[in-house]
Amino acid sequence: MERKRWYKDMVFYQIWPRSFKDGNGDGVGDLLGVLEKLDYIKSLGMDGIWFSPLYPSPGIDCGYDISDYMDIDPAYGGMEAFKKVLDGAHARGMKVIMDLVVNHTSDEHEWFQKSRQRIEPYTDYYIWRPAKPGGKLPNNWDSMFEGKAWEWDPVRGEYYLHVFAIKQPDLNMDNPLVREEVKKILRFWLDLGVDGFREDVITFISKKEGLPNDYIFPVSRGIRHYNHGPRIHEYLSEFRRDVFDHYDCMTMAEAPLVSTKRALEYIEEKEDSEIDLMIQFETMCADCLFTDYIHTPFSLRKLKRTWSNWQNKLDGKAWNMLYLENHDHPRIISRYGSEKFCTESGKMLAAAYLFQKGTPFVYQGQEIGMTNWYPADPELYEDVQTRWQYAHNALHKSSEKRLQRLWYGSRDSARTPVQWSDAENAGFSTGTPWFYVNENYRAINAAQQEQDPDSLLQFYRKAIALRKTLPVVRDGGYREFKKLSGKFYVYARETAGEKLLVICSFADRPVNFKAPKEFDLASGALILANYKDTDVQKNGFTAQPYEVRVYHWK
Ligand code: GLC
Repeated sequence: MERKRWYKDMVFYQIWPRSFKDGNGDGVGDLLGVLEKLDYIKSLGMDGIWFSPLYPSPGIDCGYDISDYMDIDPAYGGMEAFKKVLDGAHARGMKVIMDLVVNHTSDEHEWFQKSRQRIEPYTDYYIWRPAKPGGKLPNNWDSMFEGKAWEWDPVRGEYYLHVFAIKQPDLNMDNPLVREEVKKILRFWLDLGVDGFREDVITFISKKEGLPNDYIFPVSRGIRHYNHGPRIHEYLSEFRRDVFDHYDCMTMAEAPLVSTKRALEYIEEKEDSEIDLMIQFETMCADCLFTDYIHTPFSLRKLKRTWSNWQNKLDGKAWNMLYLENHDHPRIISRYGSEKFCTESGKMLAAAYLFQKGTPFVYQGQEIGMTNWYPADPELYEDVQTRWQYAHNALHKSSEKRLQRLWYGSRDSARTPVQWSDAENAGFSTGTPWFYVNENYRAINAAQQEQDPDSLLQFYRKAIALRKTLPVVRDGGYREFKKLSGKFYVYARETAGEKLLVICSFADRPVNFKAPKEFDLASGALILANYKDTDVQKNGFTAQPYEVRVYHWK
């Protein structure tokens, strides 16, 4: 089937269901809640929704540990509710993208239960190894979430590999039967009418033969032997050929530690490209090293380098997936912006990425400027990775320091319930919310921002609407200016007949800005700004804290 690549004209909204909206009052977000909010999502200008996993799951990794791939968790309303949401989204012209998590399953999945008992054909569905002499682990790999990557199973009398949590055993993708299962899952959802998949850590699915030891390296030991592993392209091509090619759908791969060069191997636009879009992590590392837990001071230059690198290297070859937030990273205003200048910096950050070339994704609550969460008690954290980091991270000895690392690093900061209003529980639930509601909900909530024409919410609406009316945002080239500046991010988008200049100040105090000579600000139309005073003098202005201006020429 010809690839239409409709995602290029779209903006997507990500829903992490547990915390989006509770429709039945049991304290957990659900599809009834989503149904209530479909008009809201559409009103933002969204063309599609990516759902984090909705499948039945024991929930140790909030749904990324799946126990049944062909159903919807009853806690979310089951299949009936999902079909209503799917129809409701389609009726509003929105696509629906599911999360495909096939690097691993839950250990409560039937396949694993049968595999540990060596019941055919499931015996080799997972990666089992006997203990090395002396009961030693099969190799030195670390898991991302909980210590070593191997767990002893007394039932089978062998170790199994888990690159993530202990309850998330890795599937053995080298087994053709497992790949057939994956295809069955894909067809099931595509036949039901979903429009594509976000593929969870899909670059991890092919492990190096022999599972060799890795270098002694402080984080994620082993990753060299399974990220972009030896048969990854073969497997993704197989899924493409046998399934995706027969449907009008999109695919988006989550790819930790991916360079632009490597990304192009997957997403370069050819008839047989394996994947359409790639979720890279580089732009999430402007204030950390490799992981959010190794915090470093925010570096605008680092951020700009990665943004421009992805814009330039993919240009004319592949399409960028643009994002600032998702369920795996702390909130962006608290990281790259300023909680003191919450609205101003939220608007500036929105414009900084929404006018780049690519398909933007907005994560629930980002559009109202939800910020990080700073609990005084580490016990309040729910996330498996966070809890392990607190208990075992050896880099800091004092418990205060370890708690602070969670404030800056924990994914739970982005998982507090969406702040819909200033009513009890932020309007998220009429019951007792499953998770802590950020106490700033009285100041930051959607209902209040609906009433305020200058709110961040309205700014998102305006920016998204604008990007759709300006062909230059889709088609134009990208050029960055003032690359060495530690205060400004400035970029232009240009076609033969149209120009856009986006000026973003990342400074928390007034700073002088002078436009590049070739752009005459006085003759341009100022189409978006976050301050009322928009004077221009000598082709420049004094930029207020986190000021943003978008100029347009035609
Ligand atoms: C991905 C998901 C994350 C999950 C992990 C394991 O990184 O985005 O939330 O914990 O994979 O499935």
